[in-house]
Amino acid sequence: MQLVPVLETRRLVLTILPGSAASRLLTFAIENDAHLARWEPPHPDGFFTEGFWRRRLDRSREELARGESLRFTIAHRDAPDGPVLGHCNFNQIVRGAFQACYLGYSIDHRWQGKGVMFEALERAIEFIFGPMRLHRIMANYIPTNERSGRLLRRLGFSVEGYARDYLYIHDGWRDHIMTSLTNPNPTAPAAGG
Ligand SMILES: CC(C)(COP(=O)(O)OP(=O)(O)OC[C@H]1O[C@@H](n2cnc3c(N)ncnc32)[C@H](O)[C@@H]1OP(=O)(O)O)[C@@H](O)C(=O)NCCC(=O)NCCS
Repeated sequence: MQLVPVLETRRLVLTILPGSAASRLLTFAIENDAHLARWEPPHPDGFFTEGFWRRRLDRSREELARGESLRFTIAHRDAPDGPVLGHCNFNQIVRGAFQACYLGYSIDHRWQGKGVMFEALERAIEFIFGPMRLHRIMANYIPTNERSGRLLRRLGFSVEGYARDYLYIHDGWRDHIMTSLTNPNPTAPAAGG
């Protein structure tokens, strides 16, 4: 059976929640819609239902078991079953000669500007480059998303390019600035993986 990582920082705990936590994610989605909608793809059908979040969490656990993603939910360290503060997702893990993944994140509007995402990502990245042995994390943001750009710069990500009409976000195709971070202690890919 796949072990589910639980990562702690001074204030936070990050883990990949089971389907039974769907109502907590639904609450986050409802309470943060006004704050997040302009930075995210249009909502899929059922986005504001518990069933949608249960299926999404079930899929996250399946992807974890297959080594395809790590979709962390962030909560207070002293209230791990309490309110969801945010998400940081390491998606589309590719092994072989690439050893790379894509990063996406969002924080509750009441918790912006307190260094929470920086604290969460510092710890998650340590795990991705350490026990997960990945080599590259790619993160792309819309040029007007200055908070996201500042966060990535502070974490050490470098700009690699500019992609026109890169993703369909909110209501249209948006240019993105492409950045990445490589493992400061690189290792060769594991044999066979
Ligand atoms: C981008 C986003 C995740 C940043 O979250 P955050 O928790 O505010 O980010 P940080 O952890 O970097 O905190 C940043 C701010 O807290 C301040 N701060 C306070 N205490 C801090 C601490 N102990 N450590 C670091 N920063 C601290 C920093 O000065 C910084 O201010 P700045 O953004 O004006 O430079 C958040 O704005 C968000 O959810 N945006 C909408 C969704 C989104 O854009 N997703 C990404 C799409 S690419």
